[in-house]
Amino acid sequence: MTTIGFIGSGNIGGTVARLSVAAGYDVVLSNSRGPETLRELVDELGPKARAGTSAEAAAAGDLVVVSIPLRAYLEVPVEPLAGKVVLDTNNYYAQRDGRFPDLDDASTTSSELLQQHLPTSKVVKVFNNIYFQHLRTLARPAGAADRSALAIAGDDAGAKSEATAFLDAIGYDAVDAGALADGWRFQPGTPVYGNAYAGGAENFYEVPGVPTDAETIRAGLNAAQR
Ligand SMILES: NC(=O)c1ccc[n+]([C@@H]2O[C@H](COP(=O)([O-])OP(=O)(O)OC[C@H]3O[C@@H](n4cnc5c(N)ncnc54)[C@H](OP(=O)(O)O)[C@@H]3O)[C@@H](O)[C@H]2O)c1
Repeated sequence: MTTIGFIGSGNIGGTVARLSVAAGYDVVLSNSRGPETLRELVDELGPKARAGTSAEAAAAGDLVVVSIPLRAYLEVPVEPLAGKVVLDTNNYYAQRDGRFPDLDDASTTSSELLQQHLPTSKVVKVFNNIYFQHLRTLARPAGAADRSALAIAGDDAGAKSEATAFLDAIGYDAVDAGALADGWRFQPGTPVYGNAYAGGAENFYEVPGVPTDAETIRAGLNAAQR
């Protein structure tokens, strides 16, 4: 696996792209406004990066990161993602995304919605519970004493293995939180959402990231309540 595709290249997509290039991957970025609007980020990332349409990023990626406002998930191209592992960073914020009754009544999860939209892909939920600045600063090489862990959830064991290997390459351990239906355990409002990587600070976006190991994430996932 050498190329990571990005559908959405903002705070989180752009951060995962930076970590990917630092780890030696090629990246293909996309957004809603068109490749020409991504020139600054492509220039920053250098020769391993290029920009394209969402369909081109989906087709080019051996693994593809979807990092857009949830309200736009039905615009993610289906056919070029067939058979691929798709990493879903998205969260549901009703004030931003509009109301999704099935999420409001907890009869499904946001990553299950994306999986339904992409029936031929293998969706893994990851990166949704860490503030992008913390994601950037907490990456560490394998074996580092202060390495942090990220939760993952998915319905396909092979896809979770691929996601785990990718996380390892870009600087993180992985904690398996279960199936996509278990993804609520690290959605907004749960113990491992945001402030887990800020030493518990309520306004996690105002403080530097704090290394957070797998044991802490596992305990937080187990403590989550609906
Ligand atoms: N910010 C964080 O720290 C953080 C942490 C964890 C998870 N998340 C979640 O991750 C997702 C992305 O968050 P973000 O903060 O990275 O958002 P962001 O900075 O606003 O970036 C969103 C990206 O999605 C693109 N986009 C929007 N609609 C699209 C479409 N229909 N097709 C293709 N690309 C589209 C945007 O492109 P344009 O600019 O051209 O519209 C932009 O590149 C959200 O669901 C968010 O809740 C965010």
